[in-house]
Amino acid sequence: MAKPRIIVTRKLPYAVEKRLKEVFTVALNPSDQPFDAAKLTSALQYGDGIISTFGDDLNAEILAAGAAGKAQIIANFGVGTNHIDLDAATQNNLVVTNTPGVLTDATADIAMTLILNATRRTYKHETALRNGNWKGFDLVSGLGMALQGKTLGIIGMGRIGQAVAVRAYFGFGMKIMYFNRSKIENVPIPGAQSMETIEDLMEVSDVVSLHLPGGEDNRNTISRARLNLMKNTAYLVNTARGDVVDQQALIEALRAGIIAGAGLDVFADEPEVPAELVAMENVSLFPHIGSATLDARNAMGMCAVDNLISHFSGRMPANKVN
Ligand code: DGY
Repeated sequence: MAKPRIIVTRKLPYAVEKRLKEVFTVALNPSDQPFDAAKLTSALQYGDGIISTFGDDLNAEILAAGAAGKAQIIANFGVGTNHIDLDAATQNNLVVTNTPGVLTDATADIAMTLILNATRRTYKHETALRNGNWKGFDLVSGLGMALQGKTLGIIGMGRIGQAVAVRAYFGFGMKIMYFNRSKIENVPIPGAQSMETIEDLMEVSDVVSLHLPGGEDNRNTISRARLNLMKNTAYLVNTARGDVVDQQALIEALRAGIIAGAGLDVFADEPEVPAELVAMENVSLFPHIGSATLDARNAMGMCAVDNLISHFSGRMPANKVN
């Protein structure tokens, strides 16, 4: 029997491409040039399955046009699936899978890095040094905020939110409060307190860290009104998705001193990053690198391949999301 044909929308880690080629007939994307709408459509028309990732705009129109062809499954390389219209995928009989769990630690590490960078103002200090503006050791300039005893407010207490909480509590002595839409059993942090509303959490937190999925349901969860509730000494950290924050309201809150600073790994319209944010010294900015370790990316890729193998062997993929 002919092997299923898998079309891959972006360049993958070497070990993942190698394994994929051992099992399937594969069309890779060695140039790593992102697929436009026409290429995504034809990938769905001519592949039995595709491996897609963040940035591939798999909207209802493309899914309907593509599903008229061969594709049965979209194996997403990544945990977030907000770039895929899941309802449209279901209507067009397309299975969608993701890669949860294997990028939890990598992403939690980056959230913690941003918390430290923002609160210790590392961007400002490092830039001064690199630009030759460091005048030598002193006792008073650019002082940061200690994390010990401060409150970390986590919005979205899933795997990654909990992994950040573990780091912040056990490693840095922070108090943990959180908001999660559904009740979470067995939070692994002594004294972690669940808050009734996001508003309550924003008011009491010294750092707010976002770990909720992107997409329509959570768009602009961090609104102007909610930013206005934060302490003016507090920091906002986002390693989730850019669309969960009203980015313009955040810029204005930072400019007006409504909050003290921010750490951002994701943006509303990637790869666009507003010039106002780039110019701000109290903001640490990363280019969506939450899961960017070789270990995590290999594990994510293998997970996507496992999902494809299950599907084409007639089993339910472990990480089916629709
Ligand atoms: C994810 O897995 O969702 C990361 O943000 C990479 O897309």
